[in-house]
Amino acid sequence: MNKTFITLLCAAATMTATADEITLFDFEDFNLGDAVAMRDYYSEDGTTKSKAEITSDPSGKAGKVLHVKNGSWNTLAELTLQGITAEEISEYDLIMFDLYRPDSETDDYRQFRCGIGDGFLHDVENEFLHQGAKGQWVKRTYSITPVSSTSDKFYIGFNSVDMEYYLDNIRLVSSSDDYDMNNPEETLRYHADRITVPAKIGIGCAVPAWNDDVVNDNNIAAKTIYNNFNIVVGENQMKPAYLQPKKGEFSWWDADRLVNLAQRHDMEVRGHTLVWHSQTLPWVTSDGYKNDGNGGKGYNREELLQILKDHITTVMTHYKGKIREWDVVNECLDDNQSIVYSQPTKYNLRNSVWKTVIGEDYLDSAFVYAHRADPDAILYINDYGADFKGDAKSEAYYNLVKRLLKSNIPVQGVGFQCHLGLGVDASKFENNVKRYADLGVEVSLTELDITTWNAGDYEQHIRQGEDYRALLEVALKYKHIRNFVVWGVTDDKSWRSPDPLLFKSNYKPKYAFFALRNTLEEWADRAAGIEDIEVDEQLPELSPYVDVYDITGRLVKQQLEREQINSLDPGLYIIDRKKILIR
Ligand code: XIL
Repeated sequence: MNKTFITLLCAAATMTATADEITLFDFEDFNLGDAVAMRDYYSEDGTTKSKAEITSDPSGKAGKVLHVKNGSWNTLAELTLQGITAEEISEYDLIMFDLYRPDSETDDYRQFRCGIGDGFLHDVENEFLHQGAKGQWVKRTYSITPVSSTSDKFYIGFNSVDMEYYLDNIRLVSSSDDYDMNNPEETLRYHADRITVPAKIGIGCAVPAWNDDVVNDNNIAAKTIYNNFNIVVGENQMKPAYLQPKKGEFSWWDADRLVNLAQRHDMEVRGHTLVWHSQTLPWVTSDGYKNDGNGGKGYNREELLQILKDHITTVMTHYKGKIREWDVVNECLDDNQSIVYSQPTKYNLRNSVWKTVIGEDYLDSAFVYAHRADPDAILYINDYGADFKGDAKSEAYYNLVKRLLKSNIPVQGVGFQCHLGLGVDASKFENNVKRYADLGVEVSLTELDITTWNAGDYEQHIRQGEDYRALLEVALKYKHIRNFVVWGVTDDKSWRSPDPLLFKSNYKPKYAFFALRNTLEEWADRAAGIEDIEVDEQLPELSPYVDVYDITGRLVKQQLEREQINSLDPGLYIIDRKKILIR
């Protein structure tokens, strides 16, 4: 590997998402056998019959730990703060520690408490939580709230008469290293905009409709959006039910506000969505479909096609030139796609009003109407549960897209909603989406969110951030992947839970935010560095074998025969220190 690559890789290795963390007590300064006071936090004189002492590690490892047994209700271990004041503690939002319970323990479900002086650091009422595996050390994380206290007495423990437990490495973590969104280099968008190889990447978010804040550029919601994202989509504002609540009566107010925000801040817009079974034209599915003036049978095929055409044409004309891409048809596939096991080229459509009354060709018509209304808009099909290679619905989706293209239907983009949970297998996503390059369509992650298992669990936020990062790496790697759009901004306003997004309710960034920002920054810097090499250095003599790197400088194939270069998977590679695009 040549020197320049080594420099690039070293630079990348130093960039990781970090959070501020301090250790309050690791008990190494205590002596074995030291007693630790236990305090009843409801009684004035405090000390109780409960016992806590410093012992050796029950799992046999070196080091000292705090052992609590023979407890009584409402009783916590009392420790004296060293090197940090009560006030300074309020800068942290999580307490983390290692917990060990003997195998003999029965109950798994206890209330955790901690505090300073007589103030509870922790909002205790609802925190009866599982304490995790027994007979081994487990990591616990709880969120803490600031208290106004000047005491140096720190209290910690579980509210239980019979729980025996060991604690070690009690530390405080500030999970949201804040960022200065007025400094472009600290935002997502700044780095995304610097990326041009292998292609431009859209980094986007859905904007909640009921968020009045987006009209005010000084509001933190608006600021967070326009400072971090270069493409936005209405979470609800452009759905048929919103835009045409009554036949022929269009309501643009919320959707226009979103488009105005985008225009003020030079963001692109995804239109979502023109045809859907859900949040669809209410007068079609309720009055019209079931008991209209058509003999009780609802609109007939011709009428529904006209309704479809009118809706698509009016909406796309209203926003012509302002919307980069439209989800023309949303979620048209059925959840059951077992058909692909017996008939590998088939798919099942969902029984929506459109499919039932018009027939499968409502899809074809919708795309044709859309293309006529705005020939410059990129037309997408969009669906969920089709994200990973090997899942039946993913195969059905691929089959459907191929069928539409074969019929010369102007489908130009394929959206993968990516409503996911912790433990994402990014390689299955990669294997699924990379094959679309051969079809000549672009691909976007359109509604990404990744739920954790327990709200506020920082360990899980780290895993979540790594899942986000792995998907972004895939999106950046392929030229045909255009957008990476997250479905919302703050966790509290998401349609899913727990904790699926990049920001907390107070707009503080989570670990996932830093994971994405660092990845974008890394990518932008490396690509810039590679460009320098081409300009500055002489090419070596051509050898019959080549080392192949991906665009991030990672070795993909060693000593590949030069003639085999064209058999590489499609993508952008670095070969002989030059960018080579394999289509
Ligand atoms: C969801 C919104 O997030 C919610 O606010 C709303 O109540 C229901 O719809 N697939 C889609 C999105 O295509 O439009 C959905 O959005 C989530 C699933």
